Amino acid sequence: MTGQDPAPDAVLIDTSKPHPARMYDWYLGGKDNYPVDEEMGRQMLALEPRVPVMARVNRAFMHRATRWLTQNGVRQFLDIGTGIPTEPNLHQIAQEIAPDARVVYCDNDPIVLAHAAALLRSTPEGVTEYLQADVRDPAAIVEGAKRVLDFGRPVALSLVALLHFVSDEDGAHELVERLLSELPSGSFLMMSHATADFTPEESAAATEKLRAAGVTLALRFRDEFARFFHGLDLVEPGVEVVHKWRPELGEPVPGQDDGVIPGYGAVGRKP
Ligand SMILES: C[S@@+](CC[C@H](N)C(=O)[O-])C[C@H]1O[C@@H](n2cnc3c(N)ncnc32)[C@H](O)[C@@H]1O
Repeated sequence: MTGQDPAPDAVLIDTSKPHPARMYDWYLGGKDNYPVDEEMGRQMLALEPRVPVMARVNRAFMHRATRWLTQNGVRQFLDIGTGIPTEPNLHQIAQEIAPDARVVYCDNDPIVLAHAAALLRSTPEGVTEYLQADVRDPAAIVEGAKRVLDFGRPVALSLVALLHFVSDEDGAHELVERLLSELPSGSFLMMSHATADFTPEESAAATEKLRAAGVTLALRFRDEFARFFHGLDLVEPGVEVVHKWRPELGEPVPGQDDGVIPGYGAVGRKP
């Protein structure tokens, strides 16, 4: 798609149950969410009051990882699970360093499609594109992305705070392998992921509440997260708690050090 948001009535928004994209928007202080998202957001806050800090810390990881990749020569990004636009978006970070950077965004939630115009304001030298697709359909994503990205040259695959919404039954690890198999040597995987490693009881309660509301939450242990990078060369410092991955590339998020941030981040290079 290009240019403008679709007419509002062309996009079907289900407000009968919470959606991860809209809850995340609520935690980040956005306006593109509904009472059902806020209600579930508040239930999560009752279990873990630091969720809004976690959301900002995660977003800041995306900024730093994008910055590092662009500074290290990457000019093409495939970002799946983009979320509702929140400035700065990935292309704004990348194109600030490399105006010719090309970015394909992808999400399966119609609310992101409804606001996609904000993702499509590329620099004149670069390109941004939005695909409405599900990560569980990698063939469709690859086909769409190839219209904009040159798969003969390195691509950074960005899966930030996405795969904890994809279960093992849906083949989370196999999906990443499949997507990486399409990319040439010198490509990268950048990824963050929530974990139950530090707060097992609260995490179990949150998973159960979300499951009852129809949202899959597949929290993973550190070694399960590390397995997504199997066969890749991890960029220093390797798998880290998300705010400790190259903190020098951004500003600290207020409150990030006041307790545990239960999420991992890493960047790996395909040899
Ligand atoms: C927590 S948000 C993360 C947004 C952004 N990547 C960031 O970290 O700031 C997760 C996003 O993943 C999307 N998502 C969840 N399941 C998905 C799937 N199966 N396919 C594509 N996107 C999905 C949601 O709609 C939501 O926008």
